[in-house]
Amino acid sequence: MLNNQASKEKRASLHGNWSSKMAFILAVTGSAVGLGNIWKFPYVAGQNGGGAFVLVYLFCVIIIGMPVMMSEILIGRRGRRNPVAAMDLLSKEENSSNKWRWVGIMGVLGGVLILSYYSVIAGWTLGYALKSITGVFVNASPQAVSSEFSNFVGNWKVIGFYHTLFMALTIFFVARGVEKGLERAVKIMVPVLLILMLVLLGYAIKSGFFGQGLLFMFSVPDSCIALSHECPLTWNSVLVALGQAFFTLSIGMGAVMAYGAYLPEETSIIGASAAVVTADTGIAILAGLAIFPLVFANGLDPADGPGLVFQTLPLAFGQMSDGVFFSTIFFILLSFAAWTSAIALIEPAVAWVIEQFDKTRTQASLIIGILIWILGFGSVLSFNLLKNMIFLAGTFFDNVDYLTSNIILPFVGLLITIFAGWIMSSESSIDELDNSGFIYKSWRLLARYIAPIGIILVLINAII
Ligand code: PFF
Repeated sequence: MLNNQASKEKRASLHGNWSSKMAFILAVTGSAVGLGNIWKFPYVAGQNGGGAFVLVYLFCVIIIGMPVMMSEILIGRRGRRNPVAAMDLLSKEENSSNKWRWVGIMGVLGGVLILSYYSVIAGWTLGYALKSITGVFVNASPQAVSSEFSNFVGNWKVIGFYHTLFMALTIFFVARGVEKGLERAVKIMVPVLLILMLVLLGYAIKSGFFGQGLLFMFSVPDSCIALSHECPLTWNSVLVALGQAFFTLSIGMGAVMAYGAYLPEETSIIGASAAVVTADTGIAILAGLAIFPLVFANGLDPADGPGLVFQTLPLAFGQMSDGVFFSTIFFILLSFAAWTSAIALIEPAVAWVIEQFDKTRTQASLIIGILIWILGFGSVLSFNLLKNMIFLAGTFFDNVDYLTSNIILPFVGLLITIFAGWIMSSESSIDELDNSGFIYKSWRLLARYIAPIGIILVLINAII
């Protein structure tokens, strides 16, 4: 066996380091905060009945998400390589099978698949930023905003164009490397996005329907508390809640692992994970609290699906003074948030191609980026020409989303916690987490037993 300590000291990241602990936290927060919080969380919560779903989701974030995130950062920093190479190297060091590299490979694949549709939705936010400038939403009725949305997504050329634009921006910045741009963008974006969410929250409170929104999000039906079969929460919704926890925290696909590889040695993994989980969950809750009152105030359906945010927020902006300004800024910021997430989605694949095939960063970004761009047209067409082509979980878009969020991410997350909890020696994990006390013991209990058993239970029950 290699001497862990010696090999670790010699091991430097191949792609540069974050300039500080704060830079890492911001980068992971930038990857975590994205469309998952503001676009996806409200509509999946809406589709799955509200309060009971939110409760299960929060439970998944804390009991499963947090230990998986710590495990990913820990593996990434110890390996200091792309996810595939890091798993390969650490499994050798821990005298285990090199089949563990498949965890990295599945993660890389998960990122590529997610980005293919993520970029399409991010394209919608770019389109909506431009629409906002033109003032189409000023004093618009709910019907006008809804038909604006259906016409927009119904035109494959338009949303195909925005998808192309978004992918081009992503490829361009990924080609420049991790430190340049990303750190600076996130430092400004996250705080300003937070302020705008608070403005929207203020508006939601004034709408007169805040109580109803609050009730929808946080009240759990008695039938669920009594665990009766009348509870609307099914095993499939529990799987969706688990998938959402993984998706929103960017875990279960090696993105956080890849970022962990650039983390300076002295940074606390525990503190960084706690900060990211808190910021990410806070923004998702805030988005829900801003959106549901608007849904009820305008007689919309909370289970409306992927168009929910695009049909509610423009209504609110349309009625605000200075709404054109706020709406434009909001959608630009949301595109930024999506873009910092997109960089995290593509990074594992790019780092892998660079190291595995000896390509430059620019070549690797182009190869992977173009592949994702082409794949993305499956999702572009799911909202128009191919919207009636329904199989398994729904359209092509629905299937890629279901497969990645609800199957690949939890499954890879499961293997990551098993690796960190069972395969890595306790010396390695204590050394990396720099703690052997209560927090370490809690993490180990969660990573070895609670999180894996929880994920397996949910996966099996949802499949049956
Ligand atoms: N967490 C991002 C969001 O909530 O929008 C999505 C995401 C980014 C998932 C990066 C996975 C990932 F690696």
